Amino acid sequence: MVSITRNIRFIGTEDDNLDMFEGQYPLVNGISYNSYLIEDERIAIVDSVDIRRCGDWLAALGEALEGKMPDYLIVQHMEPDHSGSIHELLMRYSDLKIVATAKAIAMLANFFDDIDFSPRTVAVKDGDTLSLGNTTLRFITAPMVHWPEVMMTLDETDRVLFSADAFGTFAMSSGCGWDDEARRYYCNIVGKFGASVQTVMGKLTGLKFDMIAPLHGPVLKDDLAHYWTLYDKWSRYEPETRGVLVAYASIYGGTAEAARRLALMLREQDAGEVVLFDLARHDVSYAVAEAFRMSHMVLCSVTYDGSVFPAMHTFLDHLARKNFRNRVVGVMENGSWAPAAGRLICDAVLKMKDMTVVDPMVTLHSRLHNCDLPVIRELAGAICKTSRC
Ligand SMILES: Cc1cc2nc3c(=O)[nH]c(=O)nc-3n(C[C@H](O)[C@H](O)[C@H](O)COP(=O)(O)O)c2cc1C
Ligand SMILES: [Fe+2]
Ligand SMILES: [Fe+2]
Repeated sequence: MVSITRNIRFIGTEDDNLDMFEGQYPLVNGISYNSYLIEDERIAIVDSVDIRRCGDWLAALGEALEGKMPDYLIVQHMEPDHSGSIHELLMRYSDLKIVATAKAIAMLANFFDDIDFSPRTVAVKDGDTLSLGNTTLRFITAPMVHWPEVMMTLDETDRVLFSADAFGTFAMSSGCGWDDEARRYYCNIVGKFGASVQTVMGKLTGLKFDMIAPLHGPVLKDDLAHYWTLYDKWSRYEPETRGVLVAYASIYGGTAEAARRLALMLREQDAGEVVLFDLARHDVSYAVAEAFRMSHMVLCSVTYDGSVFPAMHTFLDHLARKNFRNRVVGVMENGSWAPAAGRLICDAVLKMKDMTVVDPMVTLHSRLHNCDLPVIRELAGAICKTSRC
């Protein structure tokens, strides 16, 4: 069992048997459900875990308690990946009280209908504190980061911020570093709620903490400014990197070939980092994360049944759902008899906030021809000229 501070221990679990998180995001190395034990004169548990790992979690908790009885379960978030084992916990520790926002308490009965929670809950509001003895916990409500009932908990004594889903990633160790998987987690799962994240970051500014303990992934200890800066950018919908995501959807390869040529021209014209992304072959969650990272995108799609190709449609739909905004976009379409994808892509992009579509739009007829190269080069030049590149 890992000690976070003298009083705080990690008692979370890892689930490497789950293929998709929240029913749609492919997992590379599984997912961690973090839970913490704070021991003082009184003992608090910070969040439970998904029911899939309830047994492991109760065993880790029992071992950490060494026969002592816990006083509080702090419920920061009622999504089942964290609330799933509450019922089992309450059955095992009959004096345990739940500390949560009124909204979380209202949700409890909907998740577990065979238990009367009313004598066992303590509702807290923004700024309320709870003393465990020497340790003072301060609750900071964080509505819509990622559900309305969410709160964070600051251990003012040990200077640890329990940040709920914020500052989390998927697995404890992803193999590709924190930034990439945390970005994919943030953009896809919390990305829609940038304004709410900004509000909470405002509340946290000025509070003192040396560690951030999220509900998924590693506890963050060093260089908190790095993680804070990324969260600030992502939640403002500001790009992290000067560069272009060239995302394409192709059936027979013609559009893919043109996208590759465009990428080469962008590199020649110093567009910054250029990433080619085949929307049909990689999960859309990676494309969304790259869109958040980059300052520019070029969207390239075949026309399919008078519309855009399904993979491009899915990508645009995910971006819109996440309130994606504030980017410069180029468009390339392909069609054999009535190309229509380009106009539909423009319509979808311009429904998002603060988006600029640059001219010229490229229209291919069936495949890339030499006569298309000048207009593709012109699009690359127009992308590079825009101020944000
Ligand atoms: C099922 C299907 C539906 C299509 N629908 C249209 C269409 O509505 N309008 C059009 O101009 N081309 C349509 N096309 C043709 C493709 O857009 C065209 O062949 C394109 O050049 C394919 O580019 P690719 O080589 O990148 O796959 C369709 C192709 C397929 C296979
Ligand atoms: Fe969540
Ligand atoms: Fe979560």
